[in-house]
Amino acid sequence: MTATLRGAGAGQRVAKSGPDRRRMLAGSLAMIMTLTTRSRLAQATPDDGSLGRSAAGCGVRFGAAYDAEVFEDAGYAELIRRHSTVTGNLNAFKYDWLRPKGPQADFHMADRILAFAAEARIPFTATTLFWNDYPAPWLKHLSVAELRRLFDAHVDEVVGRYAGRIAAWVVVNEPFAPWDGEPGIYRKGPWYAAFGPGYIERAFRRARAADPSARLILNEGFCERRDDIGAAVRPALRGLARRLLDDGVPVDTIGLQGHIQPRYGVDHVAYGAYLAELADLGLSLEITELDVDDSRMPGDIEVRDRQVAEQYRAFLDQVLAVPRIRSIMTWGISDRTTWYSDVAKAENPVSPRPPRPLPYDRAMQPKPATAAIRAAFETCLEPRR
Ligand code: XIL
Repeated sequence: MTATLRGAGAGQRVAKSGPDRRRMLAGSLAMIMTLTTRSRLAQATPDDGSLGRSAAGCGVRFGAAYDAEVFEDAGYAELIRRHSTVTGNLNAFKYDWLRPKGPQADFHMADRILAFAAEARIPFTATTLFWNDYPAPWLKHLSVAELRRLFDAHVDEVVGRYAGRIAAWVVVNEPFAPWDGEPGIYRKGPWYAAFGPGYIERAFRRARAADPSARLILNEGFCERRDDIGAAVRPALRGLARRLLDDGVPVDTIGLQGHIQPRYGVDHVAYGAYLAELADLGLSLEITELDVDDSRMPGDIEVRDRQVAEQYRAFLDQVLAVPRIRSIMTWGISDRTTWYSDVAKAENPVSPRPPRPLPYDRAMQPKPATAAIRAAFETCLEPRR
C-alpha cells in the first residue's frame, strides 16, 4: 500500500466560507453541465484534438507526466506530444531513482526523459528533489551528519546539472503525513530526520541558488479529501506556505497532486474554495498529478468510465475558476501505465482489476474522461490570456 492510500478517515471536512461570485457561477454551471454531460458522455465519440490547445483557451497549460514508456511505445509518445503544453517525469528524477544503490547518481534515464520534452519543445517540470516517502533503502544506515551532507550535495549536483533547462522543480513533495504522529503533522523520513522541518526551507533556498531560473514548487496531496486527512493537511499546507513566504523562502508555486479518490469523499466545491485561499497568499497554483481512482467504482466499464469522467469534470470546473491556476498535469496519459496498477496488485495479487484512472485506455483510445477534460476547458469561466 502506498502512502497516498494510507490514512482513510471518516472525519467531516469543515467547509470554508465565502465563495466569490465567480465560483458560485462555476458551481451552478457545473451542475448544469453534469446533467448535459451525462447524455454527451453516453455517446462519447473519438476525441483526439490537443487538450493542451483546448486548455490554452482558458489561459492554462495542460499536459501529462511520463517515464520510459515514451521510448518503448510510439503511440504513448505521440499522445504526450499531442496533448501536452507542459510535461514532467513520473519517477526518473526522484532521489531513489537517481541514486538507487548509493550516493553515486546515474543520470542516464533522467537525461533521456528531459531530452524527449526538449525535442518536443514542451516545458518540463522535474519531480521531486525531496520526498520523505520511498527513501532509497541505503539511506537508512547513515548518520545525521552524512544525511545532511548528501542533502546539500543532491540539490547542488542535480539542480546544477539541469540549470536553465528545467522550467520548474518540485522541490519538496508531500511534506505532511498526519498518520506519522509528528508535531506539525510533518512526514517522517530521512530528510526530516536530518534537519527537522527545516529541510523544507533549506531545499528551496539551495535550489534557487543552484538554478535561479527554475520555478520552485511545494507539492502536496490529500487536499481534496473530505476526511480527517484532508481536514488536517489543508491548513497545515497553507500555514507552511505562509511561513515560508514570511521568511523570504523562494517558493513560487503550490502544486496540488489531485489524485482524486472518491472513496474518501471529495468535496469539489470546498476544494475550489481552498484553492482560492491558497491563491490569496500570492503564489501561483498547479495541479501536478491528476488522475481518478476507480477501484471502488462499479465493474461495468461504461458506468465506471462515466463516473471517472464526472470526477474529472467536477474537479476541473472548480480548479479552472481560480485565476491563479497555471497548469494541470495528469499522472500519465493512458491506463497502460498508471501507478494504480501497482496498488491494484498490492490489494489483490491474484486477480487485480485493471484500473482505468486516466484519459486514454490501454489501447490508447480516448475515454469519456478525455471529453470531460476538454469540455471543462471549453467552458471555463476565467480566461487568463
Ligand atoms: C508514484 C509512481 O507513480 C510510482 O511508479 C512509484 O513507485 C511511487 O510513486 N504521489 C506522488 C507521486 O507524489 O510521486 C507518486 O508516484 C504517486 C502518489
